[in-house]
Parts: sequence; structure tokens; C-alpha cells
Amino acid sequence: MRSAILNVMANAALKAARGLIRDFGEVEQLQVSLKGPGEFVSTADLRAERTLRTELTRARPGYAMLFEEGGATAGTDSQHRWIVDPLDGTTNFLHGIPHFSISIGLERDGEIVAGVVYEPTRDEMFAAEKGFGAYVNDRRLRVSARRQLSEAVIGTGMPFGPGADEPRYADTLASIMTATSGVRRMGSAALDLAYVAAGRFDGFWEFGLAPWDIAAGILLVREAGGYVSDMAGGHDMMRTGDVLAANDHLHLPLAALIKEALRGRRVTRPT
Ligand code: IPD
Ligand code: CA
Ligand code: CA
Repeated sequence: MRSAILNVMANAALKAARGLIRDFGEVEQLQVSLKGPGEFVSTADLRAERTLRTELTRARPGYAMLFEEGGATAGTDSQHRWIVDPLDGTTNFLHGIPHFSISIGLERDGEIVAGVVYEPTRDEMFAAEKGFGAYVNDRRLRVSARRQLSEAVIGTGMPFGPGADEPRYADTLASIMTATSGVRRMGSAALDLAYVAAGRFDGFWEFGLAPWDIAAGILLVREAGGYVSDMAGGHDMMRTGDVLAANDHLHLPLAALIKEALRGRRVTRPT
């Protein structure tokens, strides 16, 4: 049974997801139209955000908010803050690729205490509360037990567009792709972290993410027994946006590969 706060979060996500699913159907039609689905997707994104804002405010009126589209709103309750991405995986959504999510994190006194990542097309509700474990629907989550990098599948996000720091990223990619059994770029960072929590990915790394991409996912990984840090091994992920998540066995070797790659040196393939 979920706690009251997780129920609030899950219900808000379900409600916003109904609209996203409807709009996703429309996007599939618009793919072939001359105008394309671009503008329609921004409207879908904003509509989902509005639903989430309404639902979360109704349940907890005083909480502060940080939404991707609408930015920060102060609340009367200075202890609590929602951190929300109404549509994580916009590019997938826009291209009719059914892999996107809604991410809701709850911070108390600057610490993430509850998180929900919902994947509408597979109806997977990833949820975690600090100290109470992580779940997908009603199943308890556990990070993978793999110990060998050579057997690991690692998720990532690649920089894109103007301003992307691709040489820095490319070095880490080269290093990790040769050391592991494969790298996946799925397109929703919140889900990537949920997949680490679920043991589907053995690890995940990405640079420059926003707080709404990772707030819920970080808690999911931790509550599933995994380890999350920034690239320097510290815990400044929400500020730097740099995230490395993995099971306990693989976090250190992955961190070492990244560190070496960032230094401009490649390390030899570990066993
Ligand atoms: C993006 C996704 C993607 C990640 C990008 C994010 P958005 O979020 O999480 O996987 O690589 O860095 O910006 O724009 O789809 O909400
Ligand atoms: Ca996002
Ligand atoms: Ca988004």
C-alpha cells in the first residue's frame, strides 16, 4: 500500500498522463502532415503541467514548486517543494516514439523524500519514499547485482544542439562503450534512472541535467539500493546536473572510467 503522499503524486501523474496519451495519438497523425507536430507538442507539455500543478496544489496548497515550463513558485510552506517535469522525453514524444515520462519529486528541507516517475505507454508507475523502498506498480525494486563491467548495460544521455559539450561527453562514451556490454540512449533521463532502480540498466551517466529530470529518479535509485553521485563522486547532482548512478559494485569502476576520460586519458579495459 502506498503512503498518502505517494498516492497524491501517483494520482496527479495518472491524470496528466491521460492527456499526454491522447495527445500522443494525435502526434502520430501529425507526423505526416506538412506543419509537423512541433507546436502541438508544446501545448501538450503545457497542458500536462497545468494538470499537475492543479492536482498537487489541491492536495498540498502551501508547497513551493519548481516546474520545467513555469519555473519556480514560492509557497507558504517553506519546508516543502515539488520538482516536476510534466513531459520528460519530449523529443521522443514529438517523433512518435513511445518512451517518455512524467517526473514528480518532493523535497523536504532541501532533501528529496518522495519521487514518482510514470511511464504512460507501458503503465509503469515507479515510486519511492525515503526509507520505504522503491516500487514499480506493486513490485519492490532492486538494482542489478552485476559485478562485471564487461557484462553491464549502461544508460546515458547525449548532449545535443548548439552549446553541447560533445568532446567531453564523447571521451566518456568511448571509454564506457569499450568497457561494457553496451550503452543505451533512450531519451528520458527520469526513466533512465528508474531503469537503474529496476535493474534493467546496471548504470547511467549524463551531464548537465536539470533538477526536474533527476529529483525523483535519484531517490528511486537510492531506495532500490543503488548509488548516485555527480561525476566527482560528490552529491552535488541537483546543482551541477551531472549524474552517475549504478549498483554498488559498478559505481566505482564507472566513476574511474569517467574520471580518466575527463582527464583526457583512456584507461585500459577493466576485467
Ligand atoms: C530531456 C531528456 C533527455 C536528456 C535531456 C533532457 P526533456 O528532457 O531527459 O533524455 O538527455 O538532457 O533535457 O527536454 O525531454 O524534458
Ligand atoms: Ca526533462
Ligand atoms: Ca520536459
